[in-house]
Amino acid sequence: MPASPLHAPVLDWYDHHARDLPWRRPEATPWGVLVSELMLQQTPVARVLPVWQAWLERWPSPAALAAEPAGEAVRAWGRLGYPRRALRLHAAATAVRDQHGGQVPSDYATLLALPGVGDYTAAAVASFAYGRRHAVLDTNVRRVLARLVGGVEWPAQAVTRAERDRAEALLPDEPATAATWAVAVMELGALVCTARDPRCEACPVADRCVWLASGRPAYDGPPRRG
Ligand code: ADE
Repeated sequence: MPASPLHAPVLDWYDHHARDLPWRRPEATPWGVLVSELMLQQTPVARVLPVWQAWLERWPSPAALAAEPAGEAVRAWGRLGYPRRALRLHAAATAVRDQHGGQVPSDYATLLALPGVGDYTAAAVASFAYGRRHAVLDTNVRRVLARLVGGVEWPAQAVTRAERDRAEALLPDEPATAATWAVAVMELGALVCTARDPRCEACPVADRCVWLASGRPAYDGPPRRG
């Protein structure tokens, strides 16, 4: 969409309030971004940070990881939980080495074809590592958009077509700006528009939030997890 009034305040807020996370720095490699996204799927940032650092030091490329037995990946995964993710990352690294000349692919469809990479991770890597224009629908983004533009406290259990269309329509036109928008909305969900006790007083788009304008109605949809 050509400049929604939501863009500038959210991008400006991100500029001033975002956490400095190593996988968001310009020097982060696509491999580092892929590793971070798999680790962050079920584990909080604070626990991921040291494991991500050690992982990238030990295996700075997909080929470095693929050269070791999968069991080493599981061991290094440590206590992040859901260790199957370590096996998936090892399988993805092997596919990147064998089928993509060692370079993490940049386009969504090729990423999606990697073992263990689903819609969310493919969109996140294409967007965050390569500045491609993709709707990145993680739980934080989904909650922010449900409230801000949908006017409801929680999104549906699974991503709906309408929800995806709405998120895509809201992406800034320019790909690099769309990528920053995606991570900015994610950060807004992590720091301000939190699942419980959202801090609307600190929200840069509170004056445009449909949910807040209607008095923050409690969720009355079908039962949901989490
Ligand atoms: N930055 C980029 N991706 C992220 C994620 N999944 N969680 C937290 N911060 C992120």
